[in-house]
Amino acid sequence: TGNVTYDPGFMNTANTKSAITYIDGEAGILRYRGYPIEQLAEKSSFLEVAYLLIHGELPTETELEEFDQRIRMHTMLHEDLKDFFNGFPRDAHPMPVLSSAVSALSTWYQDSLDPFNPEHVEVATIRLLAKVPVIAAYAHKKSMGQPMLYPDNSMNLVENFMRLCFAVPAEPYELDPDVVKALDQLLILHADHEQNCSTATVRMVGSADANLFASVSAGVNALFGPAHGGANEAVLKMLRNIHAEGISPETFMEKVKNKEDGVRLMGFGHRVYKNYDPRAKIIKQTAHDILEKTGGDELLEIAMKLEEKALADDYFIERKLYPNVDFYTGLIYKAMGFPEKMFTVLFAIGRLPGWIAQWREMITDPATKIGRPRQVYTGAAERNYPN
Ligand code: CMC
Repeated sequence: TGNVTYDPGFMNTANTKSAITYIDGEAGILRYRGYPIEQLAEKSSFLEVAYLLIHGELPTETELEEFDQRIRMHTMLHEDLKDFFNGFPRDAHPMPVLSSAVSALSTWYQDSLDPFNPEHVEVATIRLLAKVPVIAAYAHKKSMGQPMLYPDNSMNLVENFMRLCFAVPAEPYELDPDVVKALDQLLILHADHEQNCSTATVRMVGSADANLFASVSAGVNALFGPAHGGANEAVLKMLRNIHAEGISPETFMEKVKNKEDGVRLMGFGHRVYKNYDPRAKIIKQTAHDILEKTGGDELLEIAMKLEEKALADDYFIERKLYPNVDFYTGLIYKAMGFPEKMFTVLFAIGRLPGWIAQWREMITDPATKIGRPRQVYTGAAERNYPN
């Protein structure tokens, strides 16, 4: 195998050059296109950040308006695609429903499949940004046994999504602007994170010249894994179990440190951040604000105690384990009324602009080669088939 480097999990191997997102894991720094995440979270909107990631610069007011209008024009799903949702069991997890429906977009929108035709790529981009939140909301409605509403294009992307998730035809529905703002901010914080597992997957699939829908659908499946996007759901399950079984935070921490049954403190640790995740800092504050508004949650108390204990504990200090983006998000989503199964779907809606931006960078980069890792063979030497 000559000069092949053995590097499981690509710990030290860069597969691409990228101008999109900068992370300094030691210092806890995250920037999209040079802009610090803290400034974007405070001043920008999810749609503006999507434009920034995809096009490289912040949009002018007119550009943002046009981008917004184009997305609003594409929110409706093909009526036949809506039938799709009836083919899944009622208790289906919305992540595989989302990835299946995104994959199926390739069958409905055959005019936007050519990765090397910039017009196709642009239409596919707009369609994904417009339709993924609608698909996600319908997956939720299906699991609730409630009717799917049509999008209302007088609303922006986040408002529309909230309404499609929570409104029912029989009742008036009022959006809470604080909740809309908090969700918009959470989506900004999830919008890109350079070569994480799902983004690397999107690039890998796309490197075979697969279309944008197919590549993003693969990204959704990667994100479904509990070590990646599924962690926000896992955090809440962990907090609920601790609460239901009356385990003290101290006892739970002992279990984690002794690696009993492989128990980990979910929402802690990161491949790149060896410091406090800058997104978690912002989210912790949002968790306090939203939960104060919605009447508090005992699980937040447990989460705070666990964090306090972990940050002062040698096990976590030695291994540089800090809260990551997922530690507090689940509590906010719960307070907003989302069931646990939807948490990773919300992550997917947020990460979508990043997947698209990274795929577009990959497809237009002359240095791109089909993703094809090498291996170190450890199997049997040549042997003869028995006579
Ligand atoms: N609780 C307890 N111990 C931990 C944890 C944790 N959450 N995370 C890592 N460790 C320990 C691990 O056991 C190992 O210890 P030792 O050196 O004694 O074997 C050491 O820390 C290094 O861990 P690792 O698994 O080799 O580190 P990694 O970079 O491969 O894994 C991770 C990163 C995020 C998969 C891991 O920290 C983890 O499983 N965390 C919990 C799940 C989680 O919160 N995931 C969300 C990641 S952030 C959002 C996203 O990008 O998806």
